[in-house]
Amino acid sequence: MDTTAPAPKAGILDIAAYVGGKSKIEGVAEPIKLSSNENALGCSAKAIEAFEAAKAKLFRYPDGHANALREVVAAYHGLEAERLVFGNGSDEVFAFLNQAWLEAGDNIVTGEHGFLAYRISALACQAEVKLAPEPDQRVEIDALLDLVDDRTKIVYISNPANPTGTWNTPEEIAELRARLAPHILLVIDEAYAEFVDEPSWASAFDMAKDADNIIVTRTFSKIHGLAGLRVGFGYCPTPVVAALERIRLPFNVNLPAQAAAIAALQDAAHIEASRQHVLTWRPRLVQEIRAMGLDVRNSAGNFVLIHFRDGDEAARANEFLMSKGLIVRHVANYGLPQALRVTVGKDHENRAFLDALTEFAKGLKPEV
Ligand SMILES: Cc1ncc(COP(=O)(O)O)c(C=O)c1O
Repeated sequence: MDTTAPAPKAGILDIAAYVGGKSKIEGVAEPIKLSSNENALGCSAKAIEAFEAAKAKLFRYPDGHANALREVVAAYHGLEAERLVFGNGSDEVFAFLNQAWLEAGDNIVTGEHGFLAYRISALACQAEVKLAPEPDQRVEIDALLDLVDDRTKIVYISNPANPTGTWNTPEEIAELRARLAPHILLVIDEAYAEFVDEPSWASAFDMAKDADNIIVTRTFSKIHGLAGLRVGFGYCPTPVVAALERIRLPFNVNLPAQAAAIAALQDAAHIEASRQHVLTWRPRLVQEIRAMGLDVRNSAGNFVLIHFRDGDEAARANEFLMSKGLIVRHVANYGLPQALRVTVGKDHENRAFLDALTEFAKGLKPEV
């Protein structure tokens, strides 16, 4: 190798680049895309109106402090406005936290099937990523705590979790908080909060109110259907805000995104319709997939995870679905080679998916 060629710092080229959900199938004009946990109903018409209206102001910089959005989010969730940090998606909030907290040789701890975005920016800081076993694909508090050591700076947990769809109870989260040393940040990612219909789940906003080390993140990409605009936020302790605001670039959340996010949060009817759509289809998908003899767990997100016998069978199912114009997500890179994750789609998309999967399942040999 030419040693004079520019080279990134150690470890950067070892990071596996994030591969998003596919959106194209060769030869299929309009595939059904159920691979990225997007909102089947799209976004609010009011958000589109606000986006359109923002056109006239595109020559302006956005409000760098997202004041109008901040006030609306704070009022909606009953939070203190100054404790919010906005990001270009919640992904960027994770990156800020990692950037501000991690030095080379530090580590983050998360579940073995945890969301990949936490890891990428941690590795970019030359930190180590410690993955705790998830027996039965659920984050286990003991397993997370077992990995915490004196170089641990952040513990990440998504609740509900992607791609498993499992969740942790408020008692478990409280136990994690109680047993974690107070100088370690605990990030609770609630990207799928609005789709939960479980009495054994609660948002951690309340717990975060008087905690010095808890950050709760939310996104506009899921329930609000604004994945393309990239808006998320973290509810942080004041000293964490002070750190993140020093590294956040001035105009990270763009002007039409701020306008559309405000309108989306004010459209209660669209929020409720989006939630109800998932609450209607999710159990239906689970029930019908189980009736095919396949293993699918209850999920608290806008998706379900289907387990096949092994990675080969999951790959064949994926290929078969693609041949029918359906794109789902083979989640091998989440440590689940035997599983496919399927987002709740529109009515006709879900039916097309169930028809195709039924056909595939009929061809499977029964277990011996
Ligand atoms: C668990 C989890 N957290 C966060 C996000 C990303 O959110 P954003 O689009 O706000 O970056 C996702 C997106 O798929 C997710 O699954």
